[in-house]
Amino acid sequence: MATPAVLGIDVGGSSIKAGLVNVAAGRVSGQLIAAPTPTPSTPPALIQVIGALGAQLPGALGRVGVAFPSVIKGGTAYTAANIDARWIGTDGAALAERTLGRPVLFLNDADAAGIAEMRFGSGRGCKGTVIMLTFGTGIGSALFTDGRLFPNTEFGHLEVAGRDAEKWASARVRTAESLDFPAWVARVNDYLAAMHRLFWPDVFILGGAVSERFQEFAPLLKSPAELRPAHFAGQAGVVGAALAAAETAA
Ligand code: BGC
Repeated sequence: MATPAVLGIDVGGSSIKAGLVNVAAGRVSGQLIAAPTPTPSTPPALIQVIGALGAQLPGALGRVGVAFPSVIKGGTAYTAANIDARWIGTDGAALAERTLGRPVLFLNDADAAGIAEMRFGSGRGCKGTVIMLTFGTGIGSALFTDGRLFPNTEFGHLEVAGRDAEKWASARVRTAESLDFPAWVARVNDYLAAMHRLFWPDVFILGGAVSERFQEFAPLLKSPAELRPAHFAGQAGVVGAALAAAETAA
């Protein structure tokens, strides 16, 4: 019998990725497809891309999971740090349901990535306090205690050295300011120290595309907590969104 495949979609600052996810195995089955995030990323423009990506991946079962870079409650976006401000107050789940013709779970992108890591990646079986951090256009966060998610934490907006942390230490800032790894990791270390003073996690999982180069910068990292690279890197949002959708009652 074919394993049920759930459609996962991850909305990022520069691209929107989609894939059918084997939720029993915790991996994308087949191809991960992507399209550029429209500019401006208004709700109608973005939903159109989500619909087009969904149409290219027929055969999905159950609810669709959409990972979104915003605080999400009951399908509605409440913030818009790296997405068009017209998303604030928009019921993204309802809009996506109309386009995709299937029930949709909308959730924060870092929460989705964290769910993928805790179920099938670097955090698998991890008890205690685990904080997943995604370094991309912004800094996303997901907080787990004994495997249970505390959603919408927004730790990327913690003030560090008088600045919004993600405006100082995200992967986008590293590229924009042409920071080499020692310069960027010095900022990341200050951020991890500020986080550790407040939350005392046992493990930080570091994700986002830059985590694929973890071995290069790992010797520079410092934290009293254990530091692990994300297992899924660029696919975490897609996999986690599908897993969360599959875990949500129909
Ligand atoms: C947003 C978060 C999001 C993170 C990563 C931040 O700017 O406020 O909701 O998880 O970026 O995309």
